Amino acid sequence: MAEVALRNVVKKYDDVVAVSGVSLDIPNHEFLVLVGPSGCGKSTTLRMIAGLEEISGGEISIGGEVVNDLPPKDRDIAMVFQNYALYPHMTVAENMSFGLKLRKFPKSEIKTRVDNAARILDITELLERRPKQLSGGQRQRVAMGRAIVRNPKVFLFDEPLSNLDAKLRVQMRTEIKRVHQKVKTTTVYVTHDQVEAMTLADRVVVMNGGRIEQIGTPNELYHQPKTRFVAGFIGSPAMNFMPGKLETNGSGLKVRLSDALSFPVPENRAARYRPALGKDILFGLRPEHITETRGSNGAGGNHQDFSTVLDVVEPMGMETMVFFKVGGAEVCGRVEPTAAKGSGETMQLRANLDHMHLIDPATNLVL
Ligand SMILES: Nc1ncnc2c1ncn2[C@@H]1O[C@H](COP(=O)(O)OP(=O)(O)OP(=O)(O)O)[C@@H](O)[C@H]1O
Ligand SMILES: [Mg+2]
Repeated sequence: MAEVALRNVVKKYDDVVAVSGVSLDIPNHEFLVLVGPSGCGKSTTLRMIAGLEEISGGEISIGGEVVNDLPPKDRDIAMVFQNYALYPHMTVAENMSFGLKLRKFPKSEIKTRVDNAARILDITELLERRPKQLSGGQRQRVAMGRAIVRNPKVFLFDEPLSNLDAKLRVQMRTEIKRVHQKVKTTTVYVTHDQVEAMTLADRVVVMNGGRIEQIGTPNELYHQPKTRFVAGFIGSPAMNFMPGKLETNGSGLKVRLSDALSFPVPENRAARYRPALGKDILFGLRPEHITETRGSNGAGGNHQDFSTVLDVVEPMGMETMVFFKVGGAEVCGRVEPTAAKGSGETMQLRANLDHMHLIDPATNLVL
């Protein structure tokens, strides 16, 4: 096991810059997830760590050793891809032990490692089957088993769950987390699915256009996004953004969103936002922070009630999504199913302003 460090790593394909100056410190045992939209450079970054892509600039080290010029087989990493081709003519045990045999490990050592990995993955009773006798999720586990038996310094995963159906994906997500808690191998995991990123990661790296937007724990990214991109990317349904203006409100501040609607800025944020007074801003509030109004007892915090006409109402069972317009912006709230009104009806809603964000539209930075 080892720490991994990237220093100003760059990848260019002719004049396409796929990764521009990525720096990262991944401590030993960490589960780090790279997440971002298609084409943002996640796979390229991972493949450079693996040694499958040459780097155009910068430095990568594994366990304190610079590996820029080390071929993949000498980096002591194990990779699991989306297409984890298993050998169809080999049993599960043979698939898992193949790499060790090639490396001339003694038979007894191979058996110990395969048995141990099978136990961790709960596939002991499948060891003599062939891949076609397995479900998709079981095959995925065998692919992970192949990586685990190697006992590498680092695991690299590139969207390993995206071929599975939705339900299995969620199951395997928990499985991967459980395996990591047991083996604790330093892991870099690539996904474009922010829910997968949030649920698996110790820390998440949000990438965009070949650059790192922000690095943080799942909760840091959710509660303290630093850019509009991160604010909009993390969280589902996504954060609402409403154009507005920052105005004075007695001795405090308020955000004006339309002629009819303005929200007071919580006192403890006034100093932080005051430099933006009089300017156009983007007001951000997550759907879960727009709810039905609730009884005044125990409400606490900074909130403001307002009424609006609902455009669209989407029952989800445990909650109901309500959509309405503020100025020109489409806004989503999450309400108790029993409290929801129908489309075309007026509903009283509550904005929880302790969770508001203000974004400077000129820089796209969160204030
Ligand atoms: N061999 C190549 N030659 C030229 N450009 C490439 C090559 N491989 C990748 N790119 C470009 O580099 C950028 C990053 O690609 P990468 O595969 O890292 O994206 P990704 O974040 O993994 O996306 P996805 O979620 O779609 O897998 C893209 O713009 C892609 O078109
Ligand atoms: Mg990719």
